[in-house]
Amino acid sequence: MMAAPALSGRLDPSPAASSPPLEFYWLSRSAAELPGGASDGCLDGLLNAAEQERWRGFVSDKRRGDWLLGRWTAKLLLQSVLAEKTGWRAPLDRLVIAQEESGRPYLQLSDWPPLWQRCLICLSISHSAGRAFCALTIGTGWQVGADIELVAPRRPAFVADYFVPAEQALLATSPPDCRDALTNAIWSGKEAALKMIGLGLRLDSRDVLCLPEPPLSAASRWWSMPVHLKSDNGATAGPLSGWWRLHEDYVYTLVIGRSPAGLGQPEATQIEKSLTRPDGY
Ligand SMILES: CC(C)(COP(=O)(O)OP(=O)(O)OC[C@H]1O[C@@H](n2cnc3c(N)ncnc32)[C@H](O)[C@@H]1OP(=O)(O)O)[C@@H](O)C(=O)NCCC(=O)NCCS
Repeated sequence: MMAAPALSGRLDPSPAASSPPLEFYWLSRSAAELPGGASDGCLDGLLNAAEQERWRGFVSDKRRGDWLLGRWTAKLLLQSVLAEKTGWRAPLDRLVIAQEESGRPYLQLSDWPPLWQRCLICLSISHSAGRAFCALTIGTGWQVGADIELVAPRRPAFVADYFVPAEQALLATSPPDCRDALTNAIWSGKEAALKMIGLGLRLDSRDVLCLPEPPLSAASRWWSMPVHLKSDNGATAGPLSGWWRLHEDYVYTLVIGRSPAGLGQPEATQIEKSLTRPDGY
């Protein structure tokens, strides 16, 4: 069977001149595209020694496969964006992806020159049913959360337990033929938002409200999905920007928000412009 073509792109949703540049990149790849499959044979050149040890430490084949597919997709995305920004095509095994204690992935730059270490890259990884989806922002100080879900029917109890009344109402009034896609888009949007803030499902899924715009055509394109997070006191914190997309039985969601104060835009832009190939690479 022919592998589905890779999905990739750049989303620039801020036409307003007064807004900061809000450009981010995404890439999706399937397990069928992974050279050598999820076997030992494809590890060299892709993972460094520590990453290979981590891969061998996973107990289940499924987890090993998902993790590797996510890492490969994320590294390809990092490689192509860094090449576009700096002209340098980094070897994949030098693009080491580590994880914070929370589980949030990041590009490990600790043994790179200081200028690179201050480079603001925010990376998000997701995998579902043999497909991975990754997104990143670079030099903007914005955070991104990405999620992919295979579209499958969800039980009414799932919607009743995990969705808030406004989401349930959106589903009840949506055209029946796109209800499964919208249900999965809402769930996926919640996971993307929870990854964007770095907490994952340690928060209640009902603390995130996602209202995906029903698709107006069958075209595979990004549709808007306003996202709201509940603040500590129960009020709604500021809205976040979200998008969703339906392609070949999968929904893809992206949520972005501002990172904490202190990561200044002008400085970030200067850093990005002056990045060059690090010594010794
Ligand atoms: C983040 C989370 C919502 C992902 O949900 P999922 O649908 O099962 O899985 P996805 O494939 O979409 O995403 C998994 C990826 O999310 C990323 N991720 C995990 N925790 C994250 C966090 N706190 N913030 C941002 N991203 C996170 C990782 O890259 C992970 O992939 P990897 O482990 O292969 O690197 C979920 O794993 C979660 O809530 N984790 C935090 C809570 C937790 O770990 N509980 C378990 C015991 S404490």
